[in-house]
Amino acid sequence: MLKVENIDVFYGEVQALFNVSFEINDTEIVSIIGANGAGKTTLMKTIVGINKVRRGSIKYHGKVISNLAPHHSIYEGIVYVPEGREVFPQMSVFENLEMGAFSKKYTRGQFNEALQEVFELFPRLKERSGQLAGTMSGGEQQMLAIGRGMMSNPKLIMFDEPSLGLAPVIVDEMFDAIVAINRKKNTPVIIVEQNAFMAMSISDRTYVLEVGNVTTKGISSELLNSPDIKKAYLGG
Ligand SMILES: Nc1ncnc2c1ncn2[C@@H]1O[C@H](COP(=O)(O)OP(=O)(O)O)[C@@H](O)[C@H]1O
Ligand SMILES: [Mg+2]
Repeated sequence: MLKVENIDVFYGEVQALFNVSFEINDTEIVSIIGANGAGKTTLMKTIVGINKVRRGSIKYHGKVISNLAPHHSIYEGIVYVPEGREVFPQMSVFENLEMGAFSKKYTRGQFNEALQEVFELFPRLKERSGQLAGTMSGGEQQMLAIGRGMMSNPKLIMFDEPSLGLAPVIVDEMFDAIVAINRKKNTPVIIVEQNAFMAMSISDRTYVLEVGNVTTKGISSELLNSPDIKKAYLGG
């Protein structure tokens, strides 16, 4: 459904991605792992149009979407849940969720349906719907960022480091939610993580990024047993 072909991406004159190719098919969970600074976030931001490609292309259902304005991807149903959550701290949980639906011309019924789905996934958000987002815990803010992304009924959803800075028990909850999102409507999911083990455990396929290059790709369950991957990303 999404095909990234041989892209080069630059920040000014500094190249961040080198000839990167990547694809995701309907219903898949694909993980992208790599060290800090490898280019994972750059790739996500290029898919949604925040970064431009200098060479290569990105196709979504066969249509070229690279270098279109970022709002374009929203209308195409591509949702990016950014690193560091970026919820609106001075708004309530409910208002943050409303923002997630703003690009949709929902009827009240459709809005409520989307809201109920988010509340089913994260009951905590329902309990806290009047609370200011900025006063919630890190894990709750991450749930809200995911919930806000879900409000637009995405056709493809990308999570950037959803486990960053969270306690292990919350991390498990977050990954369970991501799998549930994928299973419920077969929504394709791209997950970017430094927590390689978790990302590979829940994904069908994995790409490894190293200093802007895809150096390995394959079936996640196979890569989990690869000595090189174990040594570099899974602590031996
Ligand atoms: N806005 C920016 N301006 C200049 N360089 C950037 C910018 N964002 C990222 N980079 C550089 O691009 C490279 C990849 O960064 P990033 O995609 O954020 O990596 P990752 O998400 O894998 O940690 C890094 O060398 C980083 O310093
Ligand atoms: Mg990043």
